[in-house]
Amino acid sequence: MEVFVYQKYDEISQASAKVVADTINSKPNAVLGLATGSTPLGLYKELARMHKEEGLDFSHVRSFNLDEYVGLSPDHPQSYHYFMHENLFKHINIEPQNVHVPSGTTKNYQAFCEWYEQRIEECGGIDVQVLGIGSDGHIAFNEPGSSLGSRTRIKTLSKETIEDNSRFFDKKEDVPIYAITMGVGTVLEARKVILLANGANKAKAIADAIEGPVSCMCTASVLQLHPDSLLFLDTDAAGKLKMKDYYEWIQAKKPGAPAGS
Ligand code: F6R
Repeated sequence: MEVFVYQKYDEISQASAKVVADTINSKPNAVLGLATGSTPLGLYKELARMHKEEGLDFSHVRSFNLDEYVGLSPDHPQSYHYFMHENLFKHINIEPQNVHVPSGTTKNYQAFCEWYEQRIEECGGIDVQVLGIGSDGHIAFNEPGSSLGSRTRIKTLSKETIEDNSRFFDKKEDVPIYAITMGVGTVLEARKVILLANGANKAKAIADAIEGPVSCMCTASVLQLHPDSLLFLDTDAAGKLKMKDYYEWIQAKKPGAPAGS
């Protein structure tokens, strides 16, 4: 786990966009794992800027989103299909057939989940997975108690997540109760994982994820087992980290560190 602490949200967006852009530049048909929510909005804006101003080319890129609300059609303004189209896909040159977002309206969820996992494999696996974190420590919609080996499936959202996400809906009762989500095991198979978090409401989840035990009670803690996970935080989200000074010290001393460290 590598922890980067920044003063500003924009710095998180720029640092994470650089990781995604470097991946695409070194592998033009890279497979991206994408998240929705408020946190990656700046990252997507930066990727759109890089496409427009620097020619970052998405024409061979494949993408897989983490999750979708069950019951929302792709044109529903709160669906993750709609979110991705509005905030990223319509601003870049990704081919529609290379985009994958879980279906919230399939007639057969089990078959769809199996197909989604198979499709990721057919594309060669995810090169870089973008993650946010829930205030209850979830990654994707793997709520506390989710198996750390779980695969793409239907999850019942926790009351905390429903409360958190009600800000996007007219009223709390409109938030879907179920989601289709990649599993913790699916996420762990990505070759690189970048988790973004900003704001004090994420501080406890971030401390549990980085410095707590690996536990299904905070599914983000499983990133401790990943060989290449980068966490981009602002000072508020890093506010409860006991070892914050050490993480900052590591980054400050990097330029002089022995090669390969
Ligand atoms: C969204 C997702 C969720 C969010 C998390 C944080 O695709 O998988 O895990 O990343 O709920 O959401 P925000 O960024 O809105 O705080």
